[in-house]
Amino acid sequence: MTFDRSIKIAPSILAADFANFGAECAAVEAQGADWIHVDVMDGHFVPNITFGPATCAAIRPHIKGVMDVHLMIAPVDPYIQAFADAGADVLTAHVEAGPHIHRTLQAIRGAGMKAGVALNPGTPATAVADLMDMVDLICVMTVNPGFGGQKFIDMTAKITALREMIGDRPVHIEIDGGVDPVTAPIVARAGADVLVAGSAVFRGGSVSDPTPYGQNIRAIRAAAEGVWT
Ligand code: DX5
Ligand code: ZN
Repeated sequence: MTFDRSIKIAPSILAADFANFGAECAAVEAQGADWIHVDVMDGHFVPNITFGPATCAAIRPHIKGVMDVHLMIAPVDPYIQAFADAGADVLTAHVEAGPHIHRTLQAIRGAGMKAGVALNPGTPATAVADLMDMVDLICVMTVNPGFGGQKFIDMTAKITALREMIGDRPVHIEIDGGVDPVTAPIVARAGADVLVAGSAVFRGGSVSDPTPYGQNIRAIRAAAEGVWT
C-alpha cells in the first residue's frame, strides 16, 4: 500500500447483498471503488451484529485492492491475528473499545497490517493526540456506529483539528457515515481523503446491474474533488 492524499472511495459492504459478498466486492471494484470497507460488529460495542474474520477471509480473494476492516467490537486484541490471517490490509479499532488502545495499535502493526483508530461522534480529537506516530489511518465517525443509512453528523471541526495534528505524517483521514455527493465536499475540504459510503454507493444497483455503482462512485468522487458532474 503506497500513501497519498488523493480522494479514495471505500464502499461499505454493509449496504451490499449479504448473500453475494464476493460478487459485490468485484462489482464495485470494477465500477471504480478504491478500497473495500468491511464493517465488523459484535452486538456488544455496537447494537448490531454483522460477521467476523471467517467472512473476511472468504471475501478476500474477490478483492484486488485494499481490504479496509473496521472493527466495532470489544475487546479487540484477541481477534487481531485472525483478521491478519484473513488478509486485512488496514485494521481499525475504536479508541472507545478499551483502556489500552496504544497496545492494540502496536499489536495491529506487529501483525503486519496498517493500524487505524476510529473516533465516535462524541469523542474529541484530543483522544488520539498521543497516538499520531502509532497510526496509519484515523477514522472519524459521522454517525453513531451500528447501522448504515443514518443521517450525517457534521464533524468538520474535529477533522480540521486532526488534519493539523497529523501534519506531514503519512496518516489517512477516513470519514464513515452518511457520506454522499452532498456531504463529501464538506469532509474533503476539512482534510479527509478516504470516504466510506454504503447506501450512497449501492443504491439503485445490483450485481446483475452494477452500472449505478459506478455512477454513484463517480458522483461522490467528483463532489469531493470539487467538480460537480
Ligand atoms: C456504520 C458503519 C458504516 C456504514 C456507512 O456503523 O461503520 O461503514 O456502513 O453506511 P452509510 O454510508 O450508509 O452511512
Ligand atoms: Zn465502517
